[in-house]
Amino acid sequence: MITVVGGTKGGSGKSTVATNLAVMLAAAGRDVLLVDADDQETSTDFTNLRNETRPGGAGYTCVALTGRAVMTETKRLAPKYGEVIIDTGGRDTVSQRAALAVCDIYLIPFAPRSFDVWTLDKVASLVEEARAVNPDFRALAFLNRTDPRGSDNVDAAQLISSKPELKFIEAALGNRKAFANAAAAGLAVPELRPIDSKAVEEIGILFGYLYDIEKVSKLHRVGI
Ligand SMILES: Nc1ncnc2c1ncn2[C@@H]1O[C@H](COP(=O)(O)OP(=O)(O)OP(=O)(O)O)[C@@H](O)[C@H]1O
Ligand SMILES: [Mg+2]
Repeated sequence: MITVVGGTKGGSGKSTVATNLAVMLAAAGRDVLLVDADDQETSTDFTNLRNETRPGGAGYTCVALTGRAVMTETKRLAPKYGEVIIDTGGRDTVSQRAALAVCDIYLIPFAPRSFDVWTLDKVASLVEEARAVNPDFRALAFLNRTDPRGSDNVDAAQLISSKPELKFIEAALGNRKAFANAAAAGLAVPELRPIDSKAVEEIGILFGYLYDIEKVSKLHRVGI
């Protein structure tokens, strides 16, 4: 399965989510390819840090691709792997459109902030255009960096749900230091110590929604 983490807003949490999913899939025994389709190369840096700091290495393969190669190379590489995750940049680029042409799932994080939600129309039309070449992919939107209280989460969820091109999924990630701290250490949130059980639960729910639920509960039990 090819999962693209995208959207047209910078800093929405794409690389955070893409890298957590890659590590968690690898921990569940899948052979994972992480495609870094953003020239900022956040996923590549994260992977390099894992390769330098962990005795067993990153645990998955990461390649950087750009432009149309995101489509052509991913198509060639995907059959060799169990799962492919593509981390895109936060703009409407050739790379993001190329990723959309080959994906099974387009996963879009939205922060419950007006600047982020203002990109909804743009994302919805990107999905509609991509369906002309790749009719069957699922476009799943969720909230990242939610507030502990207040009405912004619900307001954002309602706006997202009003877009017929997107499916809003109830798998929110709170605004938690564990997500930033883990990333800075080259870790997925379930690998971070001391463990932030809320963050682990949240990423576990998102993971479970996308992938094999039975394996996820096993991951929880062993502490990753
Ligand atoms: N749920 C969260 N809680 C706290 N911090 C978060 C969360 N998600 C992301 N962040 C932080 O927000 C910043 C941006 O996240 P990230 O790099 O994943 O976004 P991005 O969408 O990949 O950005 P870009 O568009 O620049 O590629 C990072 O510092 C990250 O640690
Ligand atoms: Mg990024």
